Amino acid sequence: MPRKLAAGNWKMNGLRANLAELETLEARHGDAGVDILICPPATLISACEDTPFDIGGQDCHVSESGAHTGDISAEMLADAGASYVLTGHSERRADHGETDAMVATKTQAAYDAGLIAVICIGETLAEREGGTTLTVIDTQLNGSIPEAANAENTVIAYEPVWAIGTGKVPTLEQIGEVHAHIRDRLTNRFSDGSEMRILYGGSVKGSNAAEIFSVAHVDGALVGGASLKADDFSPIITALENS
Ligand code: 13P
Repeated sequence: MPRKLAAGNWKMNGLRANLAELETLEARHGDAGVDILICPPATLISACEDTPFDIGGQDCHVSESGAHTGDISAEMLADAGASYVLTGHSERRADHGETDAMVATKTQAAYDAGLIAVICIGETLAEREGGTTLTVIDTQLNGSIPEAANAENTVIAYEPVWAIGTGKVPTLEQIGEVHAHIRDRLTNRFSDGSEMRILYGGSVKGSNAAEIFSVAHVDGALVGGASLKADDFSPIITALENS
């Protein structure tokens, strides 16, 4: 069984004062039986050096360095104390026009810097309603995951775009169908694909976490809004520990 992972994506939220939330989380889950990852804004990564949790960036540039004003390389994230980075989040794909090929290149850059990549995929509402979800997932999996991926350096996050920040969650059957499909594709392509972790993301809360974690091939969650406050994230971590 892949090791379970509770990941929080703070997105463009968080000032130094908010790091107190991590202290509260540490008091409750400092020796959790699952992996805990926090992806704060890049400005806070180095300020997280004392937390026992894994820290991740939310994006990285394809290059190691160079004339790219405002961008951050994977090596810089690692240097600041990150061990993970999200790649291909749907907000990056939508806001910054990131393609599968760019996501694959960023992910390779993450590997080169020694980071674990959390590669995000997921269909839009139009794709879901048009019945093309699994085709979209296949295209994203094929295009976004580099050949060098393995269970140690890669986590897949299935985040239906229409479930992010909306309070709408797919049915457990829908989550199960996509996760089983992803697992099938990973095991066909990678020798350790059965060990690669697959997270669900999109409106995960304390109130729905346990049922989501009961679905086969759900190895944890990538949580946005409910990861900002320890009181909201803590029940999700507990649900994962108990799953
Ligand atoms: P919410 O949990 O706020 O829906 O966000 C999910 C997400 O995008 C995590 O990366």
